[in-house]
Amino acid sequence: KSEDEVVWITYVLRDGTKKKIRGKVGDNVMYLAHRYDIELEGACEASLACSTCHVYVDDAFANKLDEPKEEEEDMLDQAPALRPNSRLGCQIILRKDLDGMTVTLPQMTRNFYVDGHKPQPH
Ligand code: FES
Repeated sequence: KSEDEVVWITYVLRDGTKKKIRGKVGDNVMYLAHRYDIELEGACEASLACSTCHVYVDDAFANKLDEPKEEEEDMLDQAPALRPNSRLGCQIILRKDLDGMTVTLPQMTRNFYVDGHKPQPH
């Protein structure tokens, strides 16, 4: 693949380790993580029906992303530890201008935070 298509993304794992991944234009941040065994969940397979792919996007890049659509906002509202730079990983599609972006996995998600109280799908 051509160098123009390369988009480097750093994932900060839950234990603080950084993993720099060579992605490409068009990659989905959630699926890209899966390809490299990064423990970013994606319970609903990118259908905007969960919030387990929640990530924090570093500020330098948060503004470059398209505004979240309403469905994304609704799902984010249900994610624990929400921050202003919270996004759903499965809604971030890599572009060349996102080269160098860092995304951080939150310390908890709905799935392993609410032990025994797994939220029901709507
Ligand atoms: Fe469910 Fe992203 S994988 S909203």
